[in-house]
Amino acid sequence: MRRVLVVSIVAICSVLTAVGMLGKVLAAGTAPAIDYTKILPPDLVKNTPKGKLANPYKDSQADIVAQGEHLFLSYGCNGCHGGGGGGGMCPPLINDTWVYGGDDDTIFRLVTLGSDELQKLGYTRIGRENVVGPMPPFGAIIKSSDDLWKIFAFVRSRYNGDPAYKFGAPPDPQ
Ligand code: HEC
Repeated sequence: MRRVLVVSIVAICSVLTAVGMLGKVLAAGTAPAIDYTKILPPDLVKNTPKGKLANPYKDSQADIVAQGEHLFLSYGCNGCHGGGGGGGMCPPLINDTWVYGGDDDTIFRLVTLGSDELQKLGYTRIGRENVVGPMPPFGAIIKSSDDLWKIFAFVRSRYNGDPAYKFGAPPDPQ
């Protein structure tokens, strides 16, 4: 009898502790910040549910944009997309036509996995640019997810299309 009592008291206490911890986690609001410098793009893609990848940087951060431009050139994105991302032998990155979608999640997955792999996951070309061809997979080349987010901050900073389409098609009006 006594043992049962002790066991139940222990059980109740642990439930209360768990609830208390949960409360703290909820109170803290968001999940702990991810250190993108330590995560390779393919791992981030694999471990993040579709739609949840979001750039921690803003294209108004001049220092980040400058680093992003440097990375864009050093990884050779300019060879195909032009030095300012305005297109060359491959589609422009700064207009309002997005091949698969212009949101952070989609472009991060596209550059990491490449067109072929993205299409295997069910993505289809929804936007048409003059040039149609595969984007090569850069996931194994780009040293960290942080580098890729900085590149995108640079690309976004050069955007010159319809503001409503900067991050892809705006949601349909209800
Ligand atoms: C060998 C040429 C080549 C290189 C190098 C290259 N890309 Fe691409 N990229 C393409 C092609 C081709 C497409 C169109 C993909 C498609 O139609 O499936 C594309 C598409 C894209 C898109 C989507 C554009 C849109 O309008 O929807 C982004 C963003 C992008 N590339 C970023 C990059 C970044 C960042 C780098 C450097 C890390 C890079 N690309 C390097 C050829 C290249």
